[in-house]
Amino acid sequence: MINLQFLYKHVTRFLSEEEINLMQDEVDVSHSLLIEKAGKGNQFLGWIDLPVKMDDTLISRIESDAKSLREKSEVVVVIGIGGSYLGARAIIEALSSPFFAFNTSNKNPVVVYAGQNISQDYLSELLHLLDQKAYSIVVISKSGTTTEPAIAFRLLKNHIEKKYGTEEASGRIIAITDGSKGALKSISEKHGYKTYVIPDDVGGRYSVLSPVGLLPVAIAGYNIQQLIQGAAEMRKVCIETSSITDNPAACYAAIRNSLYRLGSQIEILVNYEPSMHYFAEWWKQLFGESEGKENEGLFPSAVNFTTDLHSMGQYIQEGQRMLFETVIRIQKSKQLLSVPADEADLDGLNYLAGKTLHEVNDMAALGTTLAHCDGEVPNLNILLPVIDERSLGELIYFFEFACALSGYLLGINPFNQPGVEAYKNNMFALLGKPGFENETEAIRERIYEE
Ligand code: PA5
Repeated sequence: MINLQFLYKHVTRFLSEEEINLMQDEVDVSHSLLIEKAGKGNQFLGWIDLPVKMDDTLISRIESDAKSLREKSEVVVVIGIGGSYLGARAIIEALSSPFFAFNTSNKNPVVVYAGQNISQDYLSELLHLLDQKAYSIVVISKSGTTTEPAIAFRLLKNHIEKKYGTEEASGRIIAITDGSKGALKSISEKHGYKTYVIPDDVGGRYSVLSPVGLLPVAIAGYNIQQLIQGAAEMRKVCIETSSITDNPAACYAAIRNSLYRLGSQIEILVNYEPSMHYFAEWWKQLFGESEGKENEGLFPSAVNFTTDLHSMGQYIQEGQRMLFETVIRIQKSKQLLSVPADEADLDGLNYLAGKTLHEVNDMAALGTTLAHCDGEVPNLNILLPVIDERSLGELIYFFEFACALSGYLLGINPFNQPGVEAYKNNMFALLGKPGFENETEAIRERIYEE
């Protein structure tokens, strides 16, 4: 049984039930393309069954490797970019205290990230930190050749080998990569690192429920079996039926595509819990890289409320009318905190005395939804009972399935990312990478012209 609820009451004044139901035939077609593996990019549909194909042996191995890295590390550096980074960070940050790194009684290591940028200052600061901490590395790259994580790994490999000696360093590095090819695979074989394989039929942004997400999450001390369980429950509903009424992912895909066709160009994912910030980053990558091609696709953007009500809130309320919001609402906080009474009441807040902050946040959310609807911004709502592994598993699978269906409704291949190569080719040409000699000459002429 799933706990996630998808609600669209605050969209029906922009899009009637009848109009939503008109999408059913198209959703049926997209659903069968997906389930029968007959659509575009069908060689990358391994993610559909990941929650039911993670066998006990693999899960035990992940848990035991995670335990052994945990025991010898104050810090674990997860190296990766895009789909090889965002899923793990989304889950770990959603589940962790924002002040975890300051807690001196931590039993679990602090997970930090590298390879998601090429910033000299970022990596220098990280190396300074690692001078002082016991640490290990998880390096993740499906291709094994992506420049950003490759640079970070070269730097950290040097550092860890100097710090611990080559043999101990190799026991502190785990690589997650392709089963048969790529530079990371070769380096791992040469040094005898433990490795996990990213299945050939699972693309980066759909890999969070493979070892790519599961190992870092287990290292951070969270329950990966619950995460998989939540995803498996959502999978059951998603594959069983294409009915917009019974399959929440189908309903979400139908509505967001209808709104797109009616002129919405931007979907904003809204959170009221700051711990969900990186979940929104994962979501942006999932939808942006899957849908944004052939001059099509909603632009996925995200805000954290109420923080951003004091910045982007103005635009959303009164700027160009091309937006809709998908709001994630968490029904129960993990901690209890109420507004205290104050005898003097100089701040005038006694009307809130005794109310929990959760209630206040809820009213802010409700008030905002109504205000934004009045400002012609349709609002979709996703309710989760609480932020835990099980709910996150449901939410991840919900979005993955909806994204795949949406891509097919749009007529594009949601599983490739040809556009990502453009910047890489220019960067390689500018840096004079061997094999790019002609491009180097051409790009230099372009620069001088400009
Ligand atoms: O979703 C994707 O496929 C991409 O975002 C990749 O995950 C990203 O480019 C990293 O690729 P790799 O894992 O090959 O280093």
